[in-house]
Amino acid sequence: MVLQTQFAQIRDRSLYIDDVDAMDLVKKYGTPLYVMSEGHIRHQLNELKTKFLDKYDHVLPLFASKSFSCLEIYRITSEFGIGIDCVSAGEISIALKAGFDPHKIYFHGNNKLPSEIDYAIAHDVDHFVIDNFYEIELVEKYAKKYDKTIYATVRVVPEIKAGGHGYIQTGHKDTKFGFSARNGIYLKAIQQIVDSAHIEFEGIHCHIGSQVFDLYAYISAMHRFVRFAYEIYDQLGVMVKVINAGGGYGIAYTKKDEPLEFETITSEIMNIIKDGYDKRGWDMPMVLVEPGRYVVGNAGITLYTVGSVKDIPDVRTYMSVDGGMTDNIRTALYDAQYDGIIVNKAYERRDTKVTVAGKICESADIVVKEIMLPYPEPGDIFAQFSTGAYHYSMSSNYNQLPKPAVVFTYQGKSKLVIRRQTFDDLIAFDVQEDYQ
Ligand SMILES: Cc1ncc(COP(=O)(O)O)c(C=O)c1O
Repeated sequence: MVLQTQFAQIRDRSLYIDDVDAMDLVKKYGTPLYVMSEGHIRHQLNELKTKFLDKYDHVLPLFASKSFSCLEIYRITSEFGIGIDCVSAGEISIALKAGFDPHKIYFHGNNKLPSEIDYAIAHDVDHFVIDNFYEIELVEKYAKKYDKTIYATVRVVPEIKAGGHGYIQTGHKDTKFGFSARNGIYLKAIQQIVDSAHIEFEGIHCHIGSQVFDLYAYISAMHRFVRFAYEIYDQLGVMVKVINAGGGYGIAYTKKDEPLEFETITSEIMNIIKDGYDKRGWDMPMVLVEPGRYVVGNAGITLYTVGSVKDIPDVRTYMSVDGGMTDNIRTALYDAQYDGIIVNKAYERRDTKVTVAGKICESADIVVKEIMLPYPEPGDIFAQFSTGAYHYSMSSNYNQLPKPAVVFTYQGKSKLVIRRQTFDDLIAFDVQEDYQ
């Protein structure tokens, strides 16, 4: 069993998160409950600051906020002087409400809507990661409308396969994201941007995928990007002044996962770019990275109450909990693996192979595929580890389950950050209208 954060410990017959007893959280807030260790989040953001932002000149780490988006995370992130990656006007709106500096928001996405582009530019978001030709037209149109300049990095496909599951690979040739480098497509896009009156070409962006453990994938992508920078200069006479190397840094969900050190990845990225630019006698470009899961993934622990327990002879033991694919879609979607414990049996032998199921009417509704636990009983509290990234942000109301609350813990205290949904919330958008 792996507790992938120094901010949680099993001690005194319970699980403590930032020195808060998980059983007290259950009593206070109920289950299912997303618990986020602010201690862990702050530690990781501080790593981005001290091991990248403060270490190099002319760099900016971004937190990929799709991994966990709410007012509080934007407030905390802004304290560290770093930027964020947003993929919708919705995320941008929350960041702005939290007081985030719009000039440090980088707007991503493969189909930014005209209304979203309008919203972003109207609200002073001026960094766009441009994905397609239609977007170039739209950004020019709305930048002109507000008489503003948009700084563009162009997402280019490096044709590298990396990432923990096919659905989170984004840098291979058959992808919906970015411009292909084939037949000079990305060069045409850059030329179009250079010719635009309100968009300033700054550089190139790549994100090869998520949950990446392969250093070589980052190395290959950066070598390819240096070659792109040469090609852009040689063919168009345009300098690449910004390279955004993306995110995707794998974290440990189980003891089989061996994450790379943050500084191992970033120093490779910086060295390859520096060598490549030195060879041409060019000044170092600005370098951005944008991890999401790395910041929040291991901060999260989901607490569930165990309901039914079924032993199917010679097959398996199913332990059902009071949530499921509505609060954790990653197991069904990506075949994700997890670790966890029964909190009230933290010291008992883990001698039963259990499948943790949800309460949703789908066979795919599995929370943890296989895990060794003490024999479970109704009323036990199951803690699933490493649920901070892409859990709350991907949650749904399927089967009309209210979304769980999100509680932050820090230095021995807890606070509610997102309240549990009520049945009234489930119909908050329903209207009764006559046909017209
Ligand atoms: C463009 C881009 N950048 C960064 C990320 C963050 O990835 P991760 O959370 O794996 O670091 C993603 C994730 O989908 C992404 O699409």
